[in-house]
Amino acid sequence: MKLLEEKILAEGHALNESILKVDSFINHQVDPQLMYEMGKDIADHFRGQGVTKVFTIESSGIAPAVYAAQELGVPMVILKKQVSKTLKTDVWQTQVTSFTKGVDYELTMAKNYISENDHILIVDDFLANGEAATGAVRLIRKAHATIAGIGILIEKSFQPGRQKLEEQGLDVYSLARIGKMDVDLIEFIHE
Ligand code: G4P
Ligand code: NA
Ligand code: NA
Repeated sequence: MKLLEEKILAEGHALNESILKVDSFINHQVDPQLMYEMGKDIADHFRGQGVTKVFTIESSGIAPAVYAAQELGVPMVILKKQVSKTLKTDVWQTQVTSFTKGVDYELTMAKNYISENDHILIVDDFLANGEAATGAVRLIRKAHATIAGIGILIEKSFQPGRQKLEEQGLDVYSLARIGKMDVDLIEFIHE
């Protein structure tokens, strides 16, 4: 997506060869118009495939996921990384280990917001090692729902996330694919 690539070049900062800061429009301050365009672009890719819900992982996936869900006319569900100890409802859970952040968490959702009739689009901001997305896929499969695919804002194609997901037969649609990165260098892949 040209608009996103231009914004990354104008305002993104590669801290090193693996971490991109986009705090001025995605992760801290949010550009709502760009976020809307990105959510709509993801929705357009998956439109007509019978998506019943859009799932995301808190927190930075929420903004694009809600715009995608609105475009598709379906609810959006936030998968939780932290769960209230007093949660009384039945939950689905799976453990995720983030290499990027060096933390473990239990990805959690209430059973009443997913059923075996659901066909789910997963949306997130970054695809790196893909542990978060793979965790979402495991959770959805535990509930016997099906997966339309994964919509991502920024894919770091030099990390193995896309490959892991594609090996499971999943459609990964990324708005910007970074092939190579370093301080003062950001190269996109187009194919
Ligand atoms: P992982 O397998 O290494 O855990 O990678 P994953 O793709 O699951 O990403 C882990 C977390 O790190 C995600 O945030 C993801 O958005 C973030 N992340 C990965 N690479 C980058 C990067 O280059 N730049 C930025 N800004 N973030 C990156 P999260 O833990 O889900 O938290 P949140 O930010 O959504 O709250
Ligand atoms: Na994220
Ligand atoms: Na993030």
